[in-house]
Amino acid sequence: MELFRKKSLDYMIRQASGKKSLQKALGAFDLTMLGVGAVIGTGIFVLTGVVAAKNAGPAIILSFVFSGLACAFAALCYAEFASMIPASGSAYTYSYTTFGELFAWILGWDLILEYGLACSVVASGWSAYFQELVGGFGIHLPALLSGAFDPSKGSYVDIMAVAIVFLLSAVLMTGVKESSRINDIMVIIKIGVVLLFIVVGIFYVRPSNWSPFMPFGFSGVMQGAATAFLAYIGFDAVSSASEEVKNPQRDMPIGILSSLAICMILYIAVSAVLTGMIPYTKLNVGDPVAFALRFVHQNWVAGFVSLGAILGITTVLFVMMYGQTRLFFAISRDGLLPKGISKLTHKTKTPTRSIILTWLMATVFSAVIPLNQLAELTNIGTLFAFIVVSLGVIVLRHTRPDIKRNFRVPFVPFIPVLAVLACGYLMVNLSKITWIGFLIWFAIGLIIYFTYGYRHSLLGSAEEQTPEPSRVTSEN
Ligand code: ALA
Repeated sequence: MELFRKKSLDYMIRQASGKKSLQKALGAFDLTMLGVGAVIGTGIFVLTGVVAAKNAGPAIILSFVFSGLACAFAALCYAEFASMIPASGSAYTYSYTTFGELFAWILGWDLILEYGLACSVVASGWSAYFQELVGGFGIHLPALLSGAFDPSKGSYVDIMAVAIVFLLSAVLMTGVKESSRINDIMVIIKIGVVLLFIVVGIFYVRPSNWSPFMPFGFSGVMQGAATAFLAYIGFDAVSSASEEVKNPQRDMPIGILSSLAICMILYIAVSAVLTGMIPYTKLNVGDPVAFALRFVHQNWVAGFVSLGAILGITTVLFVMMYGQTRLFFAISRDGLLPKGISKLTHKTKTPTRSIILTWLMATVFSAVIPLNQLAELTNIGTLFAFIVVSLGVIVLRHTRPDIKRNFRVPFVPFIPVLAVLACGYLMVNLSKITWIGFLIWFAIGLIIYFTYGYRHSLLGSAEEQTPEPSRVTSEN
């Protein structure tokens, strides 16, 4: 039963404000920017085209509505947790107090998969966009360094992916306030570019392009939703910043919900304008948004949009890497990964070693492994986390009704159940190979837990279980 030992909430709150905690520097605006920064990227700038051409047709608008609603239900659940537990680690931390250590580790391991793969996929996408842009000026990298390991194309290392991951790791090292300022500027440019596309594109919409609206039927729309889900991933990363927020009880729900709302509105608008500008059959390209503008001879605007896409993808990568560093920090602080990983530097109070680990992981994956086809694995990991968090809200309302919740999900258990059903439905729409990969990852995680984490867990150590009954409890 030790496997289900839980952390008490009082302990977590103390841990989040103690000596070993992170610096409190962020407000609601920074959080919203962090969310939008994490969300709008590869999904809207790259994936929209493939999904419209191959899965959903113009009904990609409905795909975005459906996956957006699934995220909205889950976001409400994240907001309740984040307003209650202002500690680093997001869904991992929430599970620790709700379901106990084994589930917390499973979730933590699952999130390492989500963020790790997302960093790599996004870094590869960034590199491709960047090379396309500089290619326009006649600058080309040697084939050897132009992409992930693929001897048939003559590429071995994706050097630009390595470079951007290195640069962003250096920015993260400077401390969270400085990092979030740079992020804010890039996010504002990104939103500007998306709005520019909508405002210019709307004049070229021909309603005849929306017909047939659902060429691949309802199942196509749902497969599209399961893939397009990647576009929404990231708002959950906002919750990993809890510990660095000045007034988390108030600001976390605002940050999570408003960033998702902004992105949902923009996605629906972009997909409507995009499929109205150009027949969906032509959209199977790597840069559909810029491509549609070129299609209507708005080449200058297309250039701006490409530049904005590069900046946009940069902020996604930044927040994904940020989330990964805080996750390593939280898991290691609990002893489930080696303790040294969560050491903070004295001056900037940043978890330097967590950043180095994130940097190494993202560099290795994005440099040599062609991960584009693994985007689905990112989705399945995230959907799983959403389901666990939504169930957690129901469980904690029963087991700890006494805790003060500054934000409460309305209509419990109805909304959390809807979140579970919607996310579960998206999961079953993913391919078999994705499910196999997901299960293998879990098996590896369990081996690590039973050979290392279980024995080194801080919660399991005698030191943490003694005196102060309110500190740590084994409530099972
Ligand atoms: N939501 C992120 C993107 O669209 C992962 O790139």
